[in-house]
Amino acid sequence: MDKPIGIIDSGIGGLTVLKEAEKQLPNERFIYLGDNLRCPYGSRESSEIVTFTREMINYLLQYDVKLIVIACNTATALALEYLAQEVPVPMLGVVYPGSLAATKQTTNGHIGVIGTVATINSEIYKRTIQSIDPAVRIYSLACPAFVPIIESGVVDGKELETIVEAELMPLKRWELDTLILGCTHFPLIKDIIRESVGNDITLIDSGAETARKLKKIVLKYGIQNTNKRSGAISSFKTTGDVSQFQKIANLWLDKRVWDIEKVDLSQRDVKDISF
Ligand code: DGL
Repeated sequence: MDKPIGIIDSGIGGLTVLKEAEKQLPNERFIYLGDNLRCPYGSRESSEIVTFTREMINYLLQYDVKLIVIACNTATALALEYLAQEVPVPMLGVVYPGSLAATKQTTNGHIGVIGTVATINSEIYKRTIQSIDPAVRIYSLACPAFVPIIESGVVDGKELETIVEAELMPLKRWELDTLILGCTHFPLIKDIIRESVGNDITLIDSGAETARKLKKIVLKYGIQNTNKRSGAISSFKTTGDVSQFQKIANLWLDKRVWDIEKVDLSQRDVKDISF
């Protein structure tokens, strides 16, 4: 089935999912949509997060995508369950795969989660992890400073290190052995987070876990592309600045990304699309 797989995020964070998805499924086509113009989602009202996520999904449906990955913890937390009823293709979020990996990893039963304010306030990780293993203790911390900095293209440097250190300070007293990067932007600064929390804590990348789950789903439902290809093909859409998107995408995906189109989601009358 040579239909593309859609991947959405509020910005560039979902590229951390795409990078792993391209490795896991080298025979597939991906269409990535980042709502960079309206990023961050994490400090927005839940109704707004649902509306924006719906607009992204509706946009991608015009490309006849066979499956959509909500590569954003915030949108997964606030919108996935709600929108699943109205979307005609399967959707995969990032929270369950990361939660499952963390519960398998922990030995002392103390799992930390860092994410946006909206994700942390939704308590989705707490609920999901406890549904997998009720004995685990979950410690959550919102880190609202990280996403705007990463979106601006800054992923290293002394100033960022100081901010990360200050933001993650509360984690130190929780005796964690596992920490979920519960925002798909955070793997972009994983080295700095690692430096701050030390080597005794295992970092779980919710995005990479999701890409591995994606492969299983595609194979299980037999919806893999059957035409042979020499590597995954990805095209990109952003509501924000194309050159800024390209700069970060080139860096993160370690290749020259060229197929990037600027799109305007607000111009589309999403109510016209009925399911
Ligand atoms: N990548 C999004 C997430 O995983 C970032 C959210 C935001 O836009 O604040 O939550």
